[in-house]
Amino acid sequence: MTLAARTFSRELVLNMLQLPQPVAMATVSSDLDRYLSENDNRIHSELFDFLRIPSVSARSEHAPDVARAADWLAASLRSAGLDARIYQTPGHPVVIGEWRKAAPGAPTILIYGHYDVQPAEPLELWTSPAFEPTVRDGRIYARGSVDDKGQLFAHVKALEAYLRVRGALPVNVVVLAEGEEEVGSDHLAPFVEQHAAMLRADAVVVSDSAMFAPGIPSILSSLRGLAYFQIDVQGPASDLHSGSYGGGVVNPAMALARMLATLHDDTGRVAIPGFYEDVRDWGDGARAALRDLPFDDAHFKAETGVSALGGESGFTTLERLWTRPTCEVNGLLSGYTGEGAKTVLPARAMAKVSCRLVPDQTPERVGDLLRAHIARVAPPGVRATVTQLHGGRPWRAELDGPVFDAAKRALAAAFGREPVITGEGGSIPVVGDFTRVLKAPVLLMGFGLPGENAHAPDEWISDDNFRRGMRAIATLWEELGRQTKERTKATSR
Ligand code: BES
Ligand code: MN
Ligand code: MN
Repeated sequence: MTLAARTFSRELVLNMLQLPQPVAMATVSSDLDRYLSENDNRIHSELFDFLRIPSVSARSEHAPDVARAADWLAASLRSAGLDARIYQTPGHPVVIGEWRKAAPGAPTILIYGHYDVQPAEPLELWTSPAFEPTVRDGRIYARGSVDDKGQLFAHVKALEAYLRVRGALPVNVVVLAEGEEEVGSDHLAPFVEQHAAMLRADAVVVSDSAMFAPGIPSILSSLRGLAYFQIDVQGPASDLHSGSYGGGVVNPAMALARMLATLHDDTGRVAIPGFYEDVRDWGDGARAALRDLPFDDAHFKAETGVSALGGESGFTTLERLWTRPTCEVNGLLSGYTGEGAKTVLPARAMAKVSCRLVPDQTPERVGDLLRAHIARVAPPGVRATVTQLHGGRPWRAELDGPVFDAAKRALAAAFGREPVITGEGGSIPVVGDFTRVLKAPVLLMGFGLPGENAHAPDEWISDDNFRRGMRAIATLWEELGRQTKERTKATSR
């Protein structure tokens, strides 16, 4: 089975491509463009070396590979012309690259990305091996190609191009690359707090997201947060014969199923008391911008292979995905699941449950609410425990100011049209911490595409987007260099 790519009604995308272009169109400077073209083969072969390292943060047997990817990235930053070093954490290392020789008054930009990747399993569903990058139909297939090694590497090469061609950057740059994003970034918030002085910046730039559609560059205006839990239900002291004991002893699998069923009401609303208390209204302007994006439920059904869509009633699909919190079961385990039948009353049952959060919900508060709710609905005869695994805060952008103007011009130069503003249902836990600790505006400009199979078999990045991405980023430095530090600062809160 291959995952279907998100399909777009040709008409809708064509309409979009014809939207008026309010900002005077810039172009990618020819010297930067030429450098990237002339070095295209080498850049690709380096990217492929990076992608060959199986830096799977979730698996302890890959810890040496994660460390090797950190070393590789530090060396690559050095050869691009930055100072680079590695910081050990209680988990995987943080890679820091710095270049701080811009003219006095120039802004400082923090670039964030992650060099860890999701596990590649199930391996048998990959068309070509997960850690052997392969180009087919203009796509680079490999685990981490789009999430996030390819996008992070585009930043490294844009810096290299700028430094080689112009001899200096117009901005000071700090690169922060972590190896734990895919397992919740547990050690990164403390790292950011501890090294706030080193990381202080006028703006943060992140490329770890997708464009709305092919050919439509995009700036993200929001990320959902995450609160992840494991619910364990313990019943009898051991598995029991379901004939001798069934009917007289509470079944933990049934108890868990009934508890999970209390998480939503019949309209698709989350029924955990207090869950919506901290949800801030999205505002009419943002809602209207959402409605302007061409989105077609029929295409979304086809993409996901379902016969009907579901969710909270009273909201459109994009509102549900981007602006509303959820509570989902991510995994279930209990009893006999092997071949054939076995009559057993299981001693325990387990569920992995995660809530996606929107401003101003916090993982801590949602954790308290879920624990209280489960304690209330757990039937006598079983013991239910809730363990919080990881979390990240939701985030919404301030979308005006010189950083965003520069990004619009840079994206327009590289992609030939103005970016659209989109939202996102996924999470990048540290982004909320950047806003909280560094108080700098965060620009999310990603070069992925819908249907690129992030976290799934056959992950890919569009080679055209990779190339345009490097050019957009190099142009962003050029545009930002034109701004004074003061003006850049004016957007931070
Ligand atoms: N890059 C993604 C987040 C993302 C996905 C942003 C799609 C924009 C579009 C990130 O690597 C990710 O997968 N995040 C996890 C966070 C979790 C593991 C803590 C997520 O959203 O599930
Ligand atoms: Mn990512
Ligand atoms: Mn990811």
